[in-house]
Amino acid sequence: MASTIGIVMMMMMMMVPLTCLASELSVDYYEHTCPHVDSIVAGAVHKATMNDKTVPSALLRMHFHDCFIRGCDGSILLESKGKNKAEKDGPPNISLHAFYVIENAKKALEAICPGVVSCSDILALAARDAVTLSGGPSWEVPKGRKDGRISKAVETRQLPAPTFNISQLQQSFSQRGLSLEDLVALSGGHTLGFAHCSSFQNRIHKFSPKQGIDPSLNPSFANTLQSKCHIENKVKNAGSTLDSSATYFDNAYYKLLLGGKSILSSDQALLTHPTTKALVSKYADSQIEFERAFVKSMIKMSSIINGGQEIRLQCNLIR
Ligand code: HEM
Ligand SMILES: *[C@@H]1O[C@H](CO)[C@@H](O)[C@H](O)[C@H]1NC(C)=O
Ligand SMILES: *[C@@H]1O[C@H](CO)[C@@H](O)[C@H](O)[C@H]1NC(C)=O
Repeated sequence: MASTIGIVMMMMMMMVPLTCLASELSVDYYEHTCPHVDSIVAGAVHKATMNDKTVPSALLRMHFHDCFIRGCDGSILLESKGKNKAEKDGPPNISLHAFYVIENAKKALEAICPGVVSCSDILALAARDAVTLSGGPSWEVPKGRKDGRISKAVETRQLPAPTFNISQLQQSFSQRGLSLEDLVALSGGHTLGFAHCSSFQNRIHKFSPKQGIDPSLNPSFANTLQSKCHIENKVKNAGSTLDSSATYFDNAYYKLLLGGKSILSSDQALLTHPTTKALVSKYADSQIEFERAFVKSMIKMSSIINGGQEIRLQCNLIR
């Protein structure tokens, strides 16, 4: 008897991950319950972007951040509460902003289909809209994620660091079911946005005992980065855009990377493995190939589901 219960328990435990298969997501998930979900979210992202050009990059990074910790469950959106310090207050939160865009979309959705659309789905849609609005591709976003109730600042340690080498990056991605192909395509997200000096300090200051500057950097580009960060103590938010056209979604990131003009060590690391290096060259040569790969990998990343059980009524709070 006891052993039967044990077997049943074991089977139930094994079924937990099965019930959360990403295939439960579907593009027409809200077809009957909230048919205008896509356009409502797109409207909120569009409106915010008109006022602030940094909104798209913020939303794309926010979604990545969400999916890499506890799966895409909206955990990044939650506020710290009582003794619990939430993800958004964890160390690499320096560039996180524009949470209000998600809240605005949620408010608009609650007005027409209350209690139906998850915050994690809103964020996945907003990340897609961010790319499209920036001149990048569009795609249908599978929906049906559930929101989680747990958000812990200590878990932001699970995010890949900008100082990671290729094997560390590969491991971080493979733990989430993502391949080297996904790593190269998704790193292309760095076609948008900005990095603070602290994120690439390691490359331009005391790189190694022998060299101050990372020798893989183009020397004059390294000088430019140094001069931007030299004034860091005086200028709050000193840093560099991640590529030369930071509000435009294109393949310039890969071209610059090949020219020794990448910002993060983790970008540069893509050139240190034959598989990833070949893909960098491929995407530098072809915007179309990049977009195709990016869309495929975004759908994969945004389908990482590890839990989540409810539809939050307000994206920053659980009740
Ligand atoms: C491969 C591992 C990755 C590492 C180590 C990494 C690291 C970073 C770092 C350090 C920054 C700069 C933060 C700052 O200093 O303000 C940044 C910015 C950014 N990352 Fe990544 N990232 C990675 C992957 C991704 C992925 C998969 C995406 C999305 C597809 C993404 C999208 C962005 C965007 C859009 C920004 C600019 C944010 C802004 O301007 O507000 N990153 N990333
Ligand atoms: C980042 O974390 C700090 C300290 O933990 C907090 O004061 C700040 O509000 C956070 N930033 C965002 C955008 O949440
Ligand atoms: C990457 O870094 C880890 C940890 O420092 C190290 O063990 C590993 O050998 C490095 N791999 C490569 C390819 O440099």
